[in-house]
Amino acid sequence: MKVLVVGGGGREHALAWKIAQSRRVTDVLVAPGNAGTATEPKVRNVPVAAEDVEALLRLAREEHIGLTVVGPEAPLAAGIVDRFVGSGLRCFGPRKAAAQLESSKKYAKEFMVRHGIPTGRHASFTDLDEALPYIRAQGAPLVIKADGLAAGKGVIVAHTVEEATAAAEQMLGDRAFGAASECVVVEEFLQGEEASFIAMVGVDGAILPLATSQDHKARDDGDRGPNTGGMGAYSPAPVVTEALAGRVTQEIMQPVVEGLRREGVRYFGFLYAGLMIGPDGTPKVLEFNCRFGDPETQPILFRLRSDLTELLDAALDGKLGKVRADWDPRPALGVVMTAEGYPGKYRTGDPISGLPAAGSANSKVFHAGTGLDTEGQVVTRGGRVLCVVGSGATVGEAQRVAYEVVAPIRFAGAHYRRDIGYRAIARGL
Ligand code: AMP
Ligand code: GLY
Repeated sequence: MKVLVVGGGGREHALAWKIAQSRRVTDVLVAPGNAGTATEPKVRNVPVAAEDVEALLRLAREEHIGLTVVGPEAPLAAGIVDRFVGSGLRCFGPRKAAAQLESSKKYAKEFMVRHGIPTGRHASFTDLDEALPYIRAQGAPLVIKADGLAAGKGVIVAHTVEEATAAAEQMLGDRAFGAASECVVVEEFLQGEEASFIAMVGVDGAILPLATSQDHKARDDGDRGPNTGGMGAYSPAPVVTEALAGRVTQEIMQPVVEGLRREGVRYFGFLYAGLMIGPDGTPKVLEFNCRFGDPETQPILFRLRSDLTELLDAALDGKLGKVRADWDPRPALGVVMTAEGYPGKYRTGDPISGLPAAGSANSKVFHAGTGLDTEGQVVTRGGRVLCVVGSGATVGEAQRVAYEVVAPIRFAGAHYRRDIGYRAIARGL
């Protein structure tokens, strides 16, 4: 079977790497891919943009692709799955209507209220003159979110009313994120520890929770600095105990799939709930993503022993309830290396040196924003450049392995956090 992976980040490198390990798979095509997928056995890049749905459809037909897996949110929100499925092609990911769970925060919040799914209090505004009095009445801290997709940058955690007001003014007044911030959600600030809960959902609504994970969204050590797409992640996340995972499945994942079904939308694909686990252990939803997390995918798939294509096929055949995923019990931890300036305007084109020639049994460098220049040199092409995964008997050991691989890697302006996994390690894990 030939498999197409849509996207070109670290998540897609991990997906392609894992799928290529399947004995059932002859070729993995990645559109557009990166320097990591360009050099992976059985994997090749095709120069088609992840958002170019019509070109992807032509590619899938010409190449006789048996299964397509969509990584990023943009093609999902653009309706790639509707087009593929409508053309008789197998494609794993939610349809456009279901992808609204991620592409509109207002829709997601209202959906959760309709279906009694636990989340912070909120109000949505399109008019700055209405938002400002509400913000002043609520007081700080408050969270201001652009309604639409803003690559993880449309969320401001405001510690003062002034910060909250400034964020609302930028989004609604100055349209800082264009159409994505025509509407703004003002949300209650939730205290606790964050975790990512990611599941596969089959066409029959069956839910297969994947190994738990936690990512670090802030740019700097100690979870300080601006919010990013993710600076590192590890799996499992000790904060998500088995009991809590059961609760999240019952109180959040099942009601989402069931609630959508009652509203006429059948969800299938990866479903990601960003959670805040309160001090009393109650999980509340911060956001939904209609895709696998990045960088969570990298440590999670590093631990997956099962054939991913068998799980994907089971989901598309309505048999997900009958399969199990087999996980390496050892924790895996990924450290993201970023380009100078990220998450703001960043530099690209810098040569990367010190990359290991190959992965090992306990480590792997997944590429994200990388490319090959005309001489075949690996250069930076994006904000998040690499995700270096290590595994070990404990989170602490996995962390040590990951940082050992990171140490010799160099590119101008490289930045990475030195404390990925600190919460788990502080718990003695
Ligand atoms: P989101 O994209 O909605 O997950 O928000 C990005 C980040 O902002 C989250 O990972 C949290 O760290 C933070 N955040 C979002 N909403 C809240 C909230 N209601 N309370 C506290 N922190 C939040
Ligand atoms: N790591 C957060 C995300 O994938 O959105």
